[in-house]
Amino acid sequence: MAAELQISRLSVFNAYEQLHSEGYLEAFAGSGTCVARTIPDDAFAFLPAHKRKGSQPATVESGPRNVSKRAAALLKAPSEVWLHNLGAFRVSLPALDHFPIDVWSELVARHSRRQSRVIMAYGDAMGYLPFREAIAQYLSTFRAVRCDASQILVTTGSQQGLQISAQVLLDPKDEVLVEEPGYPGARLAFTSVAAQLLPVPLDGEGMIVSEIIVRSRHPRVAYVTPSHQYPLGMTMSAARRMSLLNWAVRSGSWIIEDDYDSEYRFGSRPIASLQGLDMHGRVVYIGTFSKVLFPALRLGYVVVPKALVPAFSAVRDAADIFASTLYQAVLTDFIREGHFGRHIRRMRMLYMDRRTALVNAIRNQLGDIVEVIGAEAGMHLVALLPMGTDDASVAKHAAENGISAMPLSSCYLKPSKRGGLILGYGGVDAGQIQDGILKLRISVNRFRPSKSV
Ligand SMILES: Cc1ncc(COP(=O)(O)O)c(C=O)c1O
Repeated sequence: MAAELQISRLSVFNAYEQLHSEGYLEAFAGSGTCVARTIPDDAFAFLPAHKRKGSQPATVESGPRNVSKRAAALLKAPSEVWLHNLGAFRVSLPALDHFPIDVWSELVARHSRRQSRVIMAYGDAMGYLPFREAIAQYLSTFRAVRCDASQILVTTGSQQGLQISAQVLLDPKDEVLVEEPGYPGARLAFTSVAAQLLPVPLDGEGMIVSEIIVRSRHPRVAYVTPSHQYPLGMTMSAARRMSLLNWAVRSGSWIIEDDYDSEYRFGSRPIASLQGLDMHGRVVYIGTFSKVLFPALRLGYVVVPKALVPAFSAVRDAADIFASTLYQAVLTDFIREGHFGRHIRRMRMLYMDRRTALVNAIRNQLGDIVEVIGAEAGMHLVALLPMGTDDASVAKHAAENGISAMPLSSCYLKPSKRGGLILGYGGVDAGQIQDGILKLRISVNRFRPSKSV
């Protein structure tokens, strides 16, 4: 064979050895080596050369290829072309170029060099204890959350927090109340456990709690974003918070509070959490470092009511055991050494300027066409389009021109009455804002009904 293929005898010998050790060949003392008798005959059916990709025969996918009903339900979500670029006005993108990367790299190097057993071995499903202590302290001081470190579950971001909460709290067909419009990622998490979503309308005070009784008799969970409603931006009033908590206690239901970006509030002090008002352990509080630091860090947390800690810990263990300890340790020092607080303060000023630049650019270029709402906090605002404008078409056209504008309709379960664009301003500077709004104006004008002003 070596002579025929013009390769060395050693290569042939090694190939035989490999095939033998993988069970493809059988050796018979005195009579040579043959293809193993245990290999089924159809394994030798070769594809014609033109169907082969590279040196590997292509896979022929025959027979039924069913996926679970839950996976099929997730596949129904429409494709989100506006999420495919990271330019203006990508929602949920912080100012990555203002992140203190030198300090961060120094901390990563410090912890990577240490190679301690704690950093490298298996860790606790709830997370790295010093990190959980730092989070608990931060949340009690700045978000008025009532908790201690034993209740903190470290996650790979709020999406995993939602996913684990859904698994712990919901069975298939259980009803979950969601804000309408609301965060599409939360809908996906609840859909993935085959829960039934019931949209509850909003007004200027947030979710209309009195509607809960009208919509459902036995909801297990209500999902809310009370500090800064996603996407419309209102804050849930104190009266609504009280009645939501009363409802949860009376009905034995759970509230999931998604506090995804409350660090950034411009006109007033940050709004205290709903969890802090809860005297009965009915609120599961979810937060993330994606907006305050950067999303690829994949670190977030859930503040779990004490009675649910064993269930959350068990579900996390079954999912992916625990989050990477290295970055938990790095972030612990980043928080303890004051870099975290400093970064938030700097970003609050920066986002305030960017928000003003975006509002002004919209007023100048689109002022007579769109209405801006929800610009008091966070990293995004909503530009409501003239009645009858198909926001998904505007968003698709804008995406083709390199602009990321999320259509408001994608946050609705039912058809929305008025279209709009959710515009993130965290990750764009003043120049990109000007340029982006000029481009967006073309897309809006193209799809708005001709007589609308
Ligand atoms: C309201 C809300 N919740 C949760 C998330 C998920 O964030 P992450 O999983 O990156 O923490 C986002 C991301 O944009 C969000 O806007």
